[in-house]
Amino acid sequence: MRKYDREFILNHYKNHYSFHMDISEHLKGDEELVVGSIDVCVTTRCNLACKGCGSLMPLYGHPEDVDLETLLLSLDRFFSVVDRVFRVNVVGGEPFICPHMDRVIEFLNSRDEVIWTVVPSNGLVVPKNPRLFKALGNPKNHVRISHYEHFDDRSKLLITKLREEGIDYSVKEFGDDTFLWYDFGDYENRGRNSAELANQYRSCEVEWMSLYQGKLYPCPRAAHSIDLGLQPAEGNYVDVLDETISLERLKFQLEEFVYEASYYPACNRCDRGTGLCPVIPVAEQG
Ligand SMILES: C[S@@+](CC[C@H](N)C(=O)[O-])C[C@H]1O[C@@H](n2cnc3c(N)ncnc32)[C@H](O)[C@@H]1O
Ligand code: SF4
Repeated sequence: MRKYDREFILNHYKNHYSFHMDISEHLKGDEELVVGSIDVCVTTRCNLACKGCGSLMPLYGHPEDVDLETLLLSLDRFFSVVDRVFRVNVVGGEPFICPHMDRVIEFLNSRDEVIWTVVPSNGLVVPKNPRLFKALGNPKNHVRISHYEHFDDRSKLLITKLREEGIDYSVKEFGDDTFLWYDFGDYENRGRNSAELANQYRSCEVEWMSLYQGKLYPCPRAAHSIDLGLQPAEGNYVDVLDETISLERLKFQLEEFVYEASYYPACNRCDRGTGLCPVIPVAEQG
């Protein structure tokens, strides 16, 4: 059985607690391709090295910013065929390290297909670029600061700056039963059958696909483990940036990838959604 089809996504986002929105206000009724949420990765650079980072950032030997042209071209092609995305997370690594964040936020502000843009940050860098703050001042943006306890003093500087600039923000508090961190296991093939994989994917809480280096993957773990050569790429992405693929064909490929899949090959190399994932310390440095 499929997990996501258009009706599922619409109902899901209508009732989603973290979306301060009535989705009917944002739908005209003629949308064909609606994607709930995507991560757009702008950099693999980070100022922390969390042992259990779910996006695998500390495994990059040569972390770097995603080239601006790649980002803007892939976003442009993506939004040429996708009618609505409720939430775009602009992530890293640490997104506020990326020098062209201003241009990415400006681009997302300009696209009516995007309802809400969220910047998840570890709170430990205060950007200085006035153009970025101007762009973040657009009311569809929100900065979400991860409150990693041992770094509290430094994140206060970012909070002060966001307040001064009038930017909408919130702090993600990690507690004994809120926003736990998990270890999703290694990248070996678990040998699960189709029924087991479909059950697993239905239970998996990741609802944000990942747009990284012009390709759309089912999740950030799949994107970065494939990029790092830890598992095969086949069946795990749509190449949004490949300009030899017509927009009509790209739309068809995305519809199949988002709406028709019961699971992805990467699910067989992950324990998320199985109940097998141990809780690990939040943001413990390696
Ligand atoms: C990968 S981080 C990137 C943004 C930023 N550097 C940060 O740490 O907030 C995005 C979100 O994933 C969460 N996260 C990272 N590793 C995780 C894990 N193993 N389990 C659960 N959440 C995780 C972080 O706490 C953060 O809220
Ligand atoms: S979870 Fe830690 S290592 Fe990973 S991106 Fe966020 S701050 Fe960086």
